[in-house]
Amino acid sequence: MRKKLVAGNWKMHGNLAENNELLNAVVSGVAGLRDASVSVCVPYPYLSSVQATLRDTNITWGAQNVSQYDKGAYTGEVSTAMLKDFGCTYAIVGHSERRTLFGEHSKVVAEKYLAAQNAGLIPILCVGETLEQREAGTTEKIIEEQLKAVIALAGVDSLSKAVVAYEPIWAIGTGKTASPQQAQDVHEFIRSGIAAQNAGVAENLTIQYGGSVKANNAAELFAMPDIDGGLIGGASLIASDFIAVCHALQN
Ligand code: PGA
Repeated sequence: MRKKLVAGNWKMHGNLAENNELLNAVVSGVAGLRDASVSVCVPYPYLSSVQATLRDTNITWGAQNVSQYDKGAYTGEVSTAMLKDFGCTYAIVGHSERRTLFGEHSKVVAEKYLAAQNAGLIPILCVGETLEQREAGTTEKIIEEQLKAVIALAGVDSLSKAVVAYEPIWAIGTGKTASPQQAQDVHEFIRSGIAAQNAGVAENLTIQYGGSVKANNAAELFAMPDIDGGLIGGASLIASDFIAVCHALQN
């Protein structure tokens, strides 16, 4: 059975005091969860304190981005080895905010994905279309291109050590969630495209949905056959909401 994963994406939110309060509540709220994984992807400066808080819990942690370079004169960048130093399990790569606001194109995303894997991190590879692309009927083409860049560089087998997150850009932070069927259709498209290249890898691949997942819609999304959990932005900042989303995995 493939692994289900709920990962919080805190984005550029939080401070030491709030993070502690949030995590302490989440730790006790998900302590009894079985067969499900919970993680939080936090801003770099908080990795050390998050590691200290979560070390002996059933929650893992990760970063929201990572450099494609190992080390060197790359002012402002953070390497995979640095993330490993702070016990990270995951690194999000290719989030749409990185792609659109910071100009990360698919080739750079693929390089980050490969660098993360080479360091023993699990990349959470985000893919998704804009509203214009959906309305133009090019959703599948866009997602195929985003995946192709990664498969061309790292190979299809690399997906056995990765998570894919389908995040329609029009649903991120907007309160507009894809309907469970809309999301399922794209998840199925992703899984079947990969299955054509390696059926075993496709079957075991965790594909998260992301985009306005909340306590009141998580269960119906996670009930779809190809949706294996979620990447959660806004709702991951409110303990009771995030805990409810995590529990929705078990229904
Ligand atoms: P949201 O963000 O849940 O706030 O829509 C999801 C994401 O960007 O990963």
